[in-house]
Amino acid sequence: SFEVKIASTGQIIPIAKDQTVVQVLALCGIEIQTSCEQGVCGTCITRVLEGRPEHKDMYLTEEEQAANDQFTPCCSRSLSPMLVLDL
Ligand code: FES
Repeated sequence: SFEVKIASTGQIIPIAKDQTVVQVLALCGIEIQTSCEQGVCGTCITRVLEGRPEHKDMYLTEEEQAANDQFTPCCSRSLSPMLVLDL
């Protein structure tokens, strides 16, 4: 598991193993638009300010994934203990 930090508020939110970032943020009242929820469409792309995403999508190019400045929170996770999201 890992945590996400909401940059605009400083709120730190733990993401459990069996939950997606999109699901947990929705429970916290932070809605991220989704469509496929499988890493295919790119609708949910969110900017990452700090941390290293574990990319599970098939939408971003390898180069875009390697830049670690955006990820798909419907399915992707984190390799670092915390991701700071530009939300
Ligand atoms: Fe389609 Fe996340 S909702 S990639």
